[in-house]
Amino acid sequence: MVVAEEIGSPLATKAPTPEPEGPAFSHEEDVVTEQVKQTVFSGVQPSGAMQLGGYLGAFRNWVALQDDDTYDVVYCIVDLHAMTVPYDPVEFHRLRLDTAKVVLALGIDPTRSLLYMQSQVPQHAELAWILGTLTPTGVLNRMTQYKDKIDKGIPSNLGLYSYPVLMAADILLFHAGLVPVGDDQKQHLEMSRDLAARFNNRFGEVFPIPEPLIPETAARVMSLAEPTTKMSKSDPNPKNRIDLHDSPDVIRKKVKSAVTDSDPTVRYDIDAKPGISNLLEIMSATTGRSIDDLAAEYETGGYGKFKEAVAEAIVAELAPVRSRLQELDDAEVARILQKGALDARTRAERLQQQVRDAVGLGRV
Ligand code: TYM
Repeated sequence: MVVAEEIGSPLATKAPTPEPEGPAFSHEEDVVTEQVKQTVFSGVQPSGAMQLGGYLGAFRNWVALQDDDTYDVVYCIVDLHAMTVPYDPVEFHRLRLDTAKVVLALGIDPTRSLLYMQSQVPQHAELAWILGTLTPTGVLNRMTQYKDKIDKGIPSNLGLYSYPVLMAADILLFHAGLVPVGDDQKQHLEMSRDLAARFNNRFGEVFPIPEPLIPETAARVMSLAEPTTKMSKSDPNPKNRIDLHDSPDVIRKKVKSAVTDSDPTVRYDIDAKPGISNLLEIMSATTGRSIDDLAAEYETGGYGKFKEAVAEAIVAELAPVRSRLQELDDAEVARILQKGALDARTRAERLQQQVRDAVGLGRV
């Protein structure tokens, strides 16, 4: 696993140097050396308003990787995944577009990143079927996110059960080597790595083995009102999370009402002080200061003062996203997604043909 170490600059630990996939070539007097860049892939479900946890755990790294010329980045709104839990089709249409809008507002630039909607690229589903034939059901039975959802009363269905296979297909379709995600996706990434290896062993080397990129701080941002559970966009209580489009006043109110504990010292102790530890992680990730440094400054000043500082750090971090969000209109977002879908289909088709050839589906 690649772990980003330093806080503040989200992508602090350099990912492994990309391995060129093809030969470097030279052309007559002009010596042009073309190095094939390592592909980065990641996705977000349009299953609710995008929130601070995803931002600190994953999306800041999406932007950092785009801004690093070493990588070729592909980002996807994974709408097929979001259909595995009950949803309303009318609201879904809105959420798909809104999610793309927030991704653009984060700083994802469609001239430098390939951004598209998963359902527009049928090769995802085709590869998922093929990978499904290599997936023992025993492996799927061990997936904790599936078990958690069933425990919460979400109706079981084949799509929910095989969700990690589709996720592996997303990553492998573009031959991604690096996958920026939050800590909750570790087990799914492990399965994607396993499926890549199984495929290569069975049919010959086609896929690189993908590495997760998980930040060291704020890799799992917890709920504000229930700090022992993960902050999540699908949480029915909006007070549990900071949405990326929340106004500064809403952010201040939510942080002020965050659950803490009765001992008024600010220090990091996940078991005894999960609420304060979560706020320390959030503040550390948004200011770039270490947790020790913050704990030393706020230790004895009381929770009120500390919470105000946390809220201001979040407000400052999200201000550029909020202002870009106000500038984007729906027609522009739809146009970007249409162009992205065309490019993604062309690219996916070329790569998917290698898979068909390898498994014996290359021609009739
Ligand atoms: P999703 O849509 O739940 O979340 C998007 C990204 O945000 C991260 N994240 C968090 N990180 C830290 N703390 C939190 N509280 C938090 N909440 C969310 C997630 O780890 C994720 O990186 N299965 C994926 C979507 C997916 C995908 C993929 C990701 C489908 N195919 C291929 C990467 C590659 C998911 O449900 O993310």
